[in-house]
Amino acid sequence: MQNSSPPPVNTHHIRSFIRRQGRATVAQKLAIDTLWDKYCLDYQQPQDLSAVFLNPAPLIVEIGFGNGESLASMAQANPQLNYLGIEVHGPGIGHLMMLLEQKQLTNVKLFHHDAIEVLERHIPDKTLAGIQLFFPDPWQKRCHHKRRIVKASFIELISKKLITGGYFHAATDWKHYAQEMLKILSASEHLKNASPTNTYCERPEYRPLTKFEQRGVRLGHGVWDLIFTTT
Ligand SMILES: C[S@@+](CC[C@H](N)C(=O)[O-])C[C@H]1O[C@@H](n2cnc3c(N)ncnc32)[C@H](O)[C@@H]1O
Repeated sequence: MQNSSPPPVNTHHIRSFIRRQGRATVAQKLAIDTLWDKYCLDYQQPQDLSAVFLNPAPLIVEIGFGNGESLASMAQANPQLNYLGIEVHGPGIGHLMMLLEQKQLTNVKLFHHDAIEVLERHIPDKTLAGIQLFFPDPWQKRCHHKRRIVKASFIELISKKLITGGYFHAATDWKHYAQEMLKILSASEHLKNASPTNTYCERPEYRPLTKFEQRGVRLGHGVWDLIFTTT
């Protein structure tokens, strides 16, 4: 399917990130210089997601993968799935491309762009088997809560992109954000909580510890997993 006229994108939303200046290591820079075209999709061009992977397979999107260690582990453990990682932090993209090359993984593609705009522009409705959001920036101060990516409009957007029976899996180490996510997700008429108590889930074995999570655990933070499926 050639997507010749992408849908218009609302670029005026409040962004869930601030571009970080973090410097890439020499190895990350090398990966960015040599591997970009192999793994990264061009946001500005139409993309046919059914043709960019080596093998057709259910597609999982991970939003904000950070340094990509956990995404690379999941992709390696699940060759029967394709993964689309979306991240705005350049060095993280470089780090993940290094891992993909080391592990010779062919089931991961990346966008270096705002995930909201990628979902709106490049992901047709009812195409994703899953969406993962692990340790999104918690934006702890009350005056910054509006920057949190999980809000009613985001849940509306992801619900449209998931196939029936597809899942949304979020995890956070910030209790207030976990409570807010639970409230917003539970209010959606398109989603059903996979937790038997209608609250949080145990971390499933398939989800590796992420870099950000390990930092939180060292600081004594709790971790809350939320898994919802589309009805
Ligand atoms: C707190 S870090 C967590 C990274 C990783 N998931 C982990 O657990 O180690 C959040 C990440 O989300 C990325 N991010 C935030 N908003 C985003 C957006 N709208 N689109 C893409 N990436 C985003 C940030 O650049 C950052 O790397």
